[in-house]
Amino acid sequence: MSSTIAGTGDKSLVLASGRAHPELAKDVARELGIDLLPTTAYDFANGEIYVRFGESVRGADIFLLQSHTAPINQWIMEQLLMVDAAKRASAKTITVVQPFYGYGRQDKKHRGREPISARLMSDLFRTAGADRLMSVDLHAAQTQGFFDGPVDHLWAMPILTDYVRTRVDTTNVTVVSPDAGRIRVAEQWAAKLGGGPLAFVHKTRDITRPNQSVANRVVGDVEGRDCVLVDDLIDTGGTIAEAVKVCLAAGAKSVIVAATHGVLSDPAAQRLSECGASEVVVTDTLPIAAEKRFPQLTVLSIAPLIGRAIREVFDDGSVTSLFDGNS
Ligand code: R5P
Repeated sequence: MSSTIAGTGDKSLVLASGRAHPELAKDVARELGIDLLPTTAYDFANGEIYVRFGESVRGADIFLLQSHTAPINQWIMEQLLMVDAAKRASAKTITVVQPFYGYGRQDKKHRGREPISARLMSDLFRTAGADRLMSVDLHAAQTQGFFDGPVDHLWAMPILTDYVRTRVDTTNVTVVSPDAGRIRVAEQWAAKLGGGPLAFVHKTRDITRPNQSVANRVVGDVEGRDCVLVDDLIDTGGTIAEAVKVCLAAGAKSVIVAATHGVLSDPAAQRLSECGASEVVVTDTLPIAAEKRFPQLTVLSIAPLIGRAIREVFDDGSVTSLFDGNS
């Protein structure tokens, strides 16, 4: 295989990966039918990162894939350096593919003297030389507006709902949002899973402490229902584990959890395996180490979606068409 797809005229597609999630990069390359661009990356003794592409990218439409997993700041910096290297090597267009948008949660100021970190991320990539961003299930869709250029906001929902539909009785499903703010997403899920009722968990959060929330009670009809609890990400698992427990306490027959991004910081694996959920379904936008896997965990591949989206961008096709015109 070659590391380039030739397009019409003098167009060529190149895919390069950072070191954060090589399995995903290989899967995406396989979907596209190419090899990854040979790339060297290593750390200096003081932690500085070096990157270099092993082949010319002059005139290429280059897609730079990096998964913003832990240690997240290192991998973001590496991706920024890849953008800079591509710019200085005269790539024609540079698309940053960040399946999980690191810092996306910090998209507004809750109190004075805080940063808007999600905005800074976009500014950093734009300043480095990115023409376009591609990401999956942003924490807030309006984060697209932080980047001064095109943003392809992909949805994992079709992948997740296709799977979850095979695991539940769709005549008895209540879709549950773990907080009131994500009820719109839960509505879209409900439409895909047979149009059943919605519920949400009334959650309160201590904004002075990270990863701390309290699930007070569930609002909506969950008694005797097969609940599908949906969220964009699971970090320490506190939000979801508490939400599962309040659903079960309110009489839910079963609870299955579906989330796009399995951040799974400790002690997520323990919390999720002990919370009473029958299954926890995530995609592989982030790598999940063997020690973080637990019996109820199912990991679905996001590579076909990213591969198709990259191809649509390269062919000047339509990314929106991948989502029935809804993205
Ligand atoms: C919150 O708004 C997010 O959608 C997640 O529910 C939250 O960030 C997950 O964090 P954790 O798993 O640590 O509770």
